[in-house]
Amino acid sequence: MKILLVGSGGREHALALGLQADPSCTELHCAPGNPGIAEIATLHPIAITDNSAIVELAKKLSVDLVVIGPEVPLVNGVADELRAAGLAVFGPSKAAAQLEGSKNFAKGVMRDAGVPTARSFTCETQVEIENALDAFGAPYVVKDDGLAAGKGVVVTDDRAKALEHALACKRVVIEEFLNGPEISLFGISDGRNVLPMQPAQDFKRAYDRDEGPNTGGMGAYSPLPWAPDDIMEETYEKVLAPVIAEMAARGTPFVGLLYAGLALTDHGLRVIEFNARFGDPETQVLIPRLATPLAQLLYKAATDSLDDVALSWRDESAVTVVLAAQGYPESPKTKGAITNIPAISKTQVFHAGTSLNGVGLISSGGRVLTVTGLGSDLTEARDRAYLAISQIELEGSFYRSDIAFNASVAEKGN
Ligand code: AMP
Ligand code: GLY
Repeated sequence: MKILLVGSGGREHALALGLQADPSCTELHCAPGNPGIAEIATLHPIAITDNSAIVELAKKLSVDLVVIGPEVPLVNGVADELRAAGLAVFGPSKAAAQLEGSKNFAKGVMRDAGVPTARSFTCETQVEIENALDAFGAPYVVKDDGLAAGKGVVVTDDRAKALEHALACKRVVIEEFLNGPEISLFGISDGRNVLPMQPAQDFKRAYDRDEGPNTGGMGAYSPLPWAPDDIMEETYEKVLAPVIAEMAARGTPFVGLLYAGLALTDHGLRVIEFNARFGDPETQVLIPRLATPLAQLLYKAATDSLDDVALSWRDESAVTVVLAAQGYPESPKTKGAITNIPAISKTQVFHAGTSLNGVGLISSGGRVLTVTGLGSDLTEARDRAYLAISQIELEGSFYRSDIAFNASVAEKGN
């Protein structure tokens, strides 16, 4: 099977490794990719926003499967154009990607499918906004309706800040604050069936103890020893299956990865958000743990054939830690030399914001590398991840030191 993977981050590097490890993948291409992916795939320098270039490339290579990593091309409708050209695609249509592209759309689907989520109001005027803020009170949760690259959500006790953010958005969803640990639980769907993956936890704040600004994610781990034993079944029944059924009933089936961001509240689980693609950096812990051959799995999802598939998992824990550039997330410094990437058994270094400048590897984004450690438990996995990341040199870079720490302590106590 010839495969084209679209994207250039740590998530795509993890997907590339997973695809390439499946013997049914005979040729792997990536657009545009990064220097880490270049070691295992042929790269094609095209922009992820250029739908026609992606379709042309897939046709020229006559690939059997296209896997779309990031949300932007999905929301731009690249999957529709690829399907119209007769290609098998892992990734939802433009209409189905609205689950990520519009918070208001996602709320409507959840309402119609009976999926538990925060109560909310969608507002367009200042009067509506102020009424909604006062209806829920502090802490205020204000969400830009559209895609905002991780900057769309403000959670604050400060009403003036909440109002300011709301007024800066064209349309805004204001909702009740959900209290409780957050998890990411993904479903792989062919449009009719959906297979829940094991849950992961992401760390969104930039600094230790969840301090600092929100980021795309500073680290993740899986499995979650503290989560309820039936969390996958419950999420399947209450969230994944009803949403997939609702999207199919609307005539816009969701084919691809449905990312459920959940809060485990005292009143039960609630959806915080949906994404229409794999999470980054959750993918960097889930793919190394997944035993099911990835290329065949995504091909079956893309061709409406998941009926008899069940996922299997390695009996290993995984912890991933993001190496961020100085100034991330506000103004990451780029073009720093990256040296001393170690090769340590049971660790994997995924490239995200890296490029080559003729002399060596340099930083080219906010999240530069993601380092995953595997082990028999979370303690061993995190020790390996931290042993590896601590050796990498990039001036001014930083990483959180507490990824999976509490969970690893709690696991030992069990
Ligand atoms: P999102 O960009 O939708 O992932 O939201 C960013 C972060 O805002 C989430 O990871 C949560 O930590 C927080 N958040 C979003 N919605 C809520 C909510 N209703 N209650 C509490 N926190 C929330
Ligand atoms: N890690 C959060 C996300 O991928 O959206």
